Amino acid sequence: MCSTRRSGFAILPTPMPPLIVIRALTRTFDDGAGPVPVLRGVDLEVRSGEFVALVGRSGSGKSTLLHVLGGLDSRFEGVVTVAGTSLAGLSDQALARFRNEQVGFVFQSFHLIARLTVGQNVALPASFSATGPPDVDARVQDALERVGLADKTARLPAQLSGGERQRVAIARALFARPKVLLCDEPTGNLDAATAEGIVAHFRALNAEGLTIVAVTHEARLREAASRVLTLQDGRVVA
Ligand SMILES: Nc1ncnc2c1ncn2[C@@H]1O[C@H](COP(=O)(O)OP(=O)(O)OP(=O)(O)O)[C@@H](O)[C@H]1O
Ligand SMILES: [Mg+2]
Repeated sequence: MCSTRRSGFAILPTPMPPLIVIRALTRTFDDGAGPVPVLRGVDLEVRSGEFVALVGRSGSGKSTLLHVLGGLDSRFEGVVTVAGTSLAGLSDQALARFRNEQVGFVFQSFHLIARLTVGQNVALPASFSATGPPDVDARVQDALERVGLADKTARLPAQLSGGERQRVAIARALFARPKVLLCDEPTGNLDAATAEGIVAHFRALNAEGLTIVAVTHEARLREAASRVLTLQDGRVVA
């Protein structure tokens, strides 16, 4: 993943900038009784190709951090740069474009649309942009093949197991060919054996070069990650 430059006779590697850079990130909510600081100065870098597991007790701000990273929450202070895009102060339109093109989301509860087929669910991101990619069908097929569901395109979500539903959600997240996959408790609604299958898919996607940041309580997912970070008292402590 490194380019090279000439220096005298030696060819030295030029390191690529990190895919994600967070500096002094703060996010404060107002719960009616006053300001509640949740993120209190998060500093973090993630390099392209990493698989990062984010852990921490309930309420420590893991989902909040993921929402900021994915452009779902812009009411933060500090520096957040993802795939070369600085998210601070972006317009709603620019943020929507960033979400649609640069990141894929996978949530605990799948978020599939019941009346749409598997293929239509995977193609959903195409409907969020005015133009969309020209090769929608090929992308749907490619994304479903990557999670081993190419033969289930015409099914409805109700006709799938929990693990298959989450694989459809992963395929949908892959549709736009994002730089990074952001996952919030992606195995939280699955039994242990099914969760193991999902973790295997994340491993394979990461081995293909996809950068993954996953919030998780799941030991197997932590073990699959190349780095485990803990959120505590509003900061990343390891
Ligand atoms: N929109 C909001 N308004 C006010 N407070 C909020 C809001 N969203 C989150 N919080 C608070 O911020 C804190 C962190 O929430 P967050 O959802 O990020 O935690 P988490 O680490 O993901 O927890 P869990 O493991 O239970 O999912 C919590 O105290 C929560 O109540
Ligand atoms: Mg959460």
